[in-house]
Amino acid sequence: MTDIIIETERLYIRQITREDLPDIQKIKEENWGELQKWMSWASNDQKPFSALLKNFEDQVVPDFEKGALRLVAQHKKTDDRVMFSGLDITDQTDVYSTGYWGNLAYLGKGYATEVTKAVLKYAFNVRNAKKITIDYYEGNIASKRVIEKCDFVFVETKPKAHQSFATGEYMDVHCYSIDNANHLHDFNVKWGDKN
Ligand SMILES: CC(C)(COP(=O)(O)OP(=O)(O)OC[C@H]1O[C@@H](n2cnc3c(N)ncnc32)[C@H](O)[C@@H]1OP(=O)(O)O)[C@@H](O)C(=O)NCCC(=O)NCCS
Repeated sequence: MTDIIIETERLYIRQITREDLPDIQKIKEENWGELQKWMSWASNDQKPFSALLKNFEDQVVPDFEKGALRLVAQHKKTDDRVMFSGLDITDQTDVYSTGYWGNLAYLGKGYATEVTKAVLKYAFNVRNAKKITIDYYEGNIASKRVIEKCDFVFVETKPKAHQSFATGEYMDVHCYSIDNANHLHDFNVKWGDKN
């Protein structure tokens, strides 16, 4: 898979590989309660390592061939995996969706915002994206704040459109998008070949 590496002030961001999976599993289990509340994929059957491995083989690898990226951000100083993000293809050409979830030990320090700004700049400058979309579920204050800090534009709220894996309750889905990264001209990020 890709050798591209995106570098920000504190992070190296790159496509996940099979070697990342044991660490991803550990981080996923530690943050499972929050993931079940807020992530569209975190159903009960997604908790075991076997589900992660199957997802890697059945989706991450083939989707990469179609132009998607599933990204891990590693801390430059500690080497720890701190945040997961990505660019998912959609049914519209050059329109991607993004999202994030993090390592509990590193939350509240601006890493989701740092990764998302880097992904936006990369997507618009290198992938020639036309639009990036992102959603959050009602009550996810941290994600709402990241979306605001990255200057996504509110599009619509889909009432009661997602059933929580944590409680079974139906939640409003708030949808946002952005069509350029011009506002991030002062945000320091670079990208290149890993080798
Ligand atoms: C959402 C998530 C990735 C945010 O990661 P993070 O690295 O902590 O995010 P950042 O530090 O960049 O920004 C978080 C912001 O939310 C704010 N925030 C977090 N919890 C908050 C709360 N309970 N009330 C008010 N603000 C809150 C933080 O103060 C910060 O804003 P600030 O910089 O203005 O102070 C992380 O909480 C997570 O992994 N959650 C579980 C998965 C998830 O919800 N993913 C998103 C699905 S849409």
